[in-house]
Order: sequence, then C-alpha cells, then structure tokens
Amino acid sequence: MDYFNIFDSHAHYDDEQFKDDKDTLLSSFAEGGICGCITCGTNTKNSYAAIELAEKYPFIYAAVGLHPLDIEDEKKENYIDIFRSLSNHEKVVAIGEIGLDYHYDSAPRETQIKVLEEQIILAKELDLPVIIHDRESHEDILNILKKHKPKGVVHCFSGSVEMMREVVKLGMYIGLGGAVTFKNAKKPVEVAKEVPSERLLIETDAPYMTPVPFRGKRNDSTLIPYTAEKIAEVRNTTAQEILNITNQNAKELFGI
Ligand code: NI
Repeated sequence: MDYFNIFDSHAHYDDEQFKDDKDTLLSSFAEGGICGCITCGTNTKNSYAAIELAEKYPFIYAAVGLHPLDIEDEKKENYIDIFRSLSNHEKVVAIGEIGLDYHYDSAPRETQIKVLEEQIILAKELDLPVIIHDRESHEDILNILKKHKPKGVVHCFSGSVEMMREVVKLGMYIGLGGAVTFKNAKKPVEVAKEVPSERLLIETDAPYMTPVPFRGKRNDSTLIPYTAEKIAEVRNTTAQEILNITNQNAKELFGI
C-alpha cells in the first residue's frame, strides 16, 4: 500500500497504550503518507496533553473537551473556562470529544446533556467545530444538534442512513472508521455507501476501533488505508480518491 493524503480526523495519541513508542510511531507518519491528524482530549488533563503533542508535530492538531465517560472523574469545575482559554492556542481546531454515552451511562443522562450543551454553546461562541461522540443516544444527539446547529462531525457514526441524512442536512460531517470493515457492520456500510462525498471524514479513533484484519490489536493512523479500501469498495471508487476527498473535507471543516 502506497497511499498519500491521509488525514485521520479522530485519534487519541495521549492514550497510555502509546506511552512506550509514541515518538517513534508519530515520527514515521510522514513516510506513511499521513498529512494530518486530530488528537482529541476527553478531559481537562489530557486536553493539555493533546496540545503538547500538536506543538511537537506539525501535522498534529488538537481538540479539547470533556467526554461523557470522563464527567464523573473530572476534577476541574471550571472546565468550560479552561477549554475557552486552551482554544486560544493556534493548533486547537475543535471542541471534542464531547457527546452522550448511553451504553455505559457512567454519568446521569441529564448531566451528560447539560455538559454537552454547554460545550456546544462554547464552540459556537468560539466559532469552532464540535467532535461528537454518540453511543446508543441517537435521538437525543439529533435533537441537541437540531436545537443548537453547531458545525462539526458526528464521529464513529453508528446511526442509520436516515439519521445520517438529517445530520448532513444540518451541514455537519460524518466520521467513519474501522467499524466499516467489521464483519457484522451493516449500518456503517450502508452509511458509507450513501453519505455525500463532501460530508465524509475518515478516522481511526486510535487506539480503538482497529480495522480488519488487525481487529483486536492497537489501532493507529497507518491502518487507515484498510478503512479507505472498504469505503472505496462500496462506493465504486479507489481508496486514494477516498483519502483525497476526506483530506480536503477535514481541512475545510477544521480550517487547516
Ligand atoms: Ni474518540
């Protein structure tokens, strides 16, 4: 595989699974055709870390935000002020990863909704896109997006084709990753086929969501071509074409 123009719109390179070889790995990316990557914070602490990585590597950009699964452990009550101030950094390009997680429900749903809405309002104040996590919470996510109309992406999209059309109608993007390669993936494949090309982003969610044939191992941006090949197959195009389009879309959305 000799691809280029790979833009990974969603990863977590501050994750401890990368602590032993992060620098070796990230230093190899240019050679692997990776031209851009958004590394996402999930709380105040690792949002700082995301920015530090972005300072170190020119092709890395940062998103800052409080993830629904991190709400209960967040120590800083003034996280909105912290994210507002971090967003002044030139390499912060989005508020994320934020959203709702009704699979684990680790914080009460009313709290998750409140934290999500206040961060969407912050993103709009700062004119930044949002990176949305939606796990088993499609209806509430869609209602909140319709209410606030932020710009941004629903990452690791797991909704139906109908929901995808609603999200696209709001002007937002659809992030697809390793899940499209899974054997039991029906909805993500249907979405991959139907999503308008100008609204498609490609992502890893590294270290998670590793595409087949490496499912179960650690994911990183060098494995994006497996996802691109699957999307290309169902859209009757080439993986390189998918990479070209998603690179262009990511740069447009994140203002790079
Ligand atoms: Ni993520």
